[in-house]
Amino acid sequence: MKIAIGKETAQAEKRVAASPDSVKKLIALGADVFVETGAGAGSSFPDSQFETAGAKVVSQDEAYKDADVILRVRSPSAAEVGKMKKGAVLIGMLAPYNDKEFLKTYAAQGIAAFSMELVPRITRAQTMDVLSSQANLAGYRAVLEAANEFGRGFPMMMTAAGTVPAAKVFIMGAGVAGLQAIATARRLGAVVSATDVRAAAKEQVQSLGATFVMVENEETKAAETSGGYAKEMSEDYKKQQATLIADTIKKQDIVITTALIPGRKAPVLVNDDMVKSMKPGSVIVDLAVEQGGNVSLAKFGEVVDVNGVKIVGHANMPSRIAVDASALYARNLVNFLTPLVDKETKNLKINWEDEIVKATVLTRDGDVVHPNFKA
Ligand code: NAI
Repeated sequence: MKIAIGKETAQAEKRVAASPDSVKKLIALGADVFVETGAGAGSSFPDSQFETAGAKVVSQDEAYKDADVILRVRSPSAAEVGKMKKGAVLIGMLAPYNDKEFLKTYAAQGIAAFSMELVPRITRAQTMDVLSSQANLAGYRAVLEAANEFGRGFPMMMTAAGTVPAAKVFIMGAGVAGLQAIATARRLGAVVSATDVRAAAKEQVQSLGATFVMVENEETKAAETSGGYAKEMSEDYKKQQATLIADTIKKQDIVITTALIPGRKAPVLVNDDMVKSMKPGSVIVDLAVEQGGNVSLAKFGEVVDVNGVKIVGHANMPSRIAVDASALYARNLVNFLTPLVDKETKNLKINWEDEIVKATVLTRDGDVVHPNFKA
């Protein structure tokens, strides 16, 4: 079994789909591992470390030629797909909701493309959950980005020259990224509050020492799907929520938004007027900017200044903490791949009826097979 690790081609992508540690694990599965030259450079994994771990470092053409499995962080280009053999398995965060058309390229090439974002949230798949591993790091990094843009400190400081008040930080969306943002902002000494539409988030927020702010009604009792995700809320709920948020936001120094609804555009939670109600010097970080944004004035890939309020819309926050993000993602991939490999023959043996396989496979045998993306 030949496994290829490609160099990422998406803009601002510093992550890589393998670490020296994961390469050792892939070899232990019985694979020959081929890493594209320079693939780990953005994550401080030089080619030499991959070689020491047992991989061969080669050109892209050599890596992809006859590879049984190709591991990627993001979708490859059409030209790269063209280098993959019929029947090859491609595994990555392929963002199928963002570009349904591109799935036909995988199908036409005859490859089995698996999208790691679709791994179901069942106990058996926890170690494969890339959304959690990456969101956790993004939540941490978002707080550091905010602190960097903020002209004041986070903790209360009593000095001979006077007292510096603690920063007030408001986290919107208390999922994986939000909870880590709460913990990080608390560690830096801020006074933290948070909101979510899932009532289950309340206890988690409070256990981290933050205050929970939420419109609680009959609707929020059913705002969580069986998979633990949020549902889209009604127009009436959104109005009530906007009033509460408007009132909360104007008192904050830092706002970090993380609210997502799988497969849909992110909900807009912070409108123009709310931004304008904040004090000059305040900072907003929109972690949902890639999914359309929680903040109406956020711009993808930019830091904008609106009346002295900075809105950080960095593309790809996990890539800003690429070493850890790559290491955890690479582990997720090893855990995903392990059950697809026959222990005896050391070759791929995929059980197409398996719950995790069925949830993640997008294309197979020339067709788009995932029910959410079939034409
Ligand atoms: P996510 O990334 O899809 O969304 C982030 C957060 O935004 C969620 O907490 C969501 O409720 C919230 N949100 C969505 N719309 C909102 C709105 N209009 N206003 C305010 N907040 C809004 O979710 P994430 O972080 O991937 O996970 C959500 C939950 O799933 C976790 O808190 C956890 O309970 C559960 N989970 C379960 C796992 C497992 O069982 N293996 C693994 C990871 C998470």
